[in-house]
Amino acid sequence: MTSRDRFLNAFTNNAPDRPPVWIMRQAGRYLPEYRELKTKYDFVTMVKTPDLATEVTLQPLRRFPQLDAAIIFSDILIVPEAMGLPYSFREQGGIEMAGAIRSHGEVETLDPSAVREKTAYIADALRLVRAELGNSKALLGFGGAPWTLATYMIEGGSSKDFSHARDMFIKDRALFDCLMEKLTLAVIELFKSQVEAGVDAVQIFDSWAAAAPEGHYWDCSLKWINRIIEAIPKTTPVILFSKGMTSHRGELAKSGARALAADHSIDLPSWRSHLPADIAVQGNLDPEIMTGEPKAAAEATHKLLYAMAPWKRYIFNLGHGITPQARIETVQAVLETIDGAKQKG
Ligand code: CP3
Repeated sequence: MTSRDRFLNAFTNNAPDRPPVWIMRQAGRYLPEYRELKTKYDFVTMVKTPDLATEVTLQPLRRFPQLDAAIIFSDILIVPEAMGLPYSFREQGGIEMAGAIRSHGEVETLDPSAVREKTAYIADALRLVRAELGNSKALLGFGGAPWTLATYMIEGGSSKDFSHARDMFIKDRALFDCLMEKLTLAVIELFKSQVEAGVDAVQIFDSWAAAAPEGHYWDCSLKWINRIIEAIPKTTPVILFSKGMTSHRGELAKSGARALAADHSIDLPSWRSHLPADIAVQGNLDPEIMTGEPKAAAEATHKLLYAMAPWKRYIFNLGHGITPQARIETVQAVLETIDGAKQKG
C-alpha cells in the first residue's frame, strides 16, 4: 500500500494496515533545514517562489519517510493579500495586516475576482511537488475558513479578544455578510485552482472558530464553509479543522466535510462514536507532547493509536500545529510508533 493509497483509503470503508499520518504545520520552524533556509529568504518570499515552497514542502517528507501526505507550504493569509490586504509579521510575534476592514467603504475595496491569478504561485508549487512525489504520497492543499480570515482582516492582525469581528457580526450583519460573501468566493477560487493542480484533498482551517459569538457558529462560519465545500468537486475530500468547537459535533457533521479534525481537548474514540459513520476523523495528539521526551511521546501515541483501532476512516495527526519547540527525535518516535503498528497488526 503506498502512502497515497493509505491516505485516500481513510475516506472509504476499508481498514488500512496502519492509520495514515501527517502533521499540521509539518513544514516549519522546528526543522533545522527550514530555519537554515529562513536565514536566506523571508517567509513571504518562500511562499511566493514555487521552487522554494516546493523545497520547504518536501523537507519533512525527506526527514520522516513515515509521513503519508505532503501539505503545500503556504499560508491562509495569501487570500486577504490577493484581495488587496497584505500581511506581515510583528516583531513580538503575531500577524499585522496592512489595515483593518470595518466599514462598507473598506469592504468595497476588496476584490476577490483576481484571487486565482494572484495566487498562481501556489498552483505552480503544487504541480512541482506532485512531479517530485508522483503517486507515492498524498498531496494536500489548504485554505482558511472565511470567519478565521475575517478575524485577521477586521482586527487588523492577530487578536486576543476578537472584539471588532464579533461586534461586526452582532451589530452590522449586512456588512459582515458582505465581507463573508467576498471571502467565500475568494476561497472557492483558491481551492478550485488547488484541485486543478492535482491535490488529493484540502483542509479548511477554522482556527478561530471558538471566537464566533455563542450560539451563532453556523451563521458566523459554518454556513460559508458549507458553501465552499459544495463548490469543490465531490472527488476531492475536504477535511475541516474547527479548533475549539468539538462540542458542535452535530453542526460540524452538516458542514459537508468528509473528515473532521479534532483538537486535543477531547477523547477521540468517544467523540467519533457520536458522529455519522461515513465521516472520517483526524487528530488529536497534544502538540505539547512533541516538545517532550521521545519515550513519553511514543507511549501517548501508542495509547491513541490502539484506542482508535481498527483505524477505519481515521487519519493520525496532532490536535493543532506542531510548535517551533518540537524535538526532532520525539517527532521521529511518534512516527515510528505509528509505522510500527503495521507489523503488529
Ligand atoms: O502545515 C503546513 O506545514 C503548511 C504550512 C502552513 C503555514 N501556515 C506556514 C506558516 C499552514 C497550514 C498555515 C496555516 C495558518 N496560517 C493558520 C491556520 C493553522 C493553525 O495553526 O491554526 C493560521 C492561523 C495562519 C496565520 C499565521 N501564519 C500565523 C498566526 C503565523 C505565525 C505568526 C507568528 O507569531 O510568528 C503564520 C506564519 C507561518 N505560517 C509560519 C509558518 C511556517 C511561521 C513563519 C516563520 O517561519 O517565521
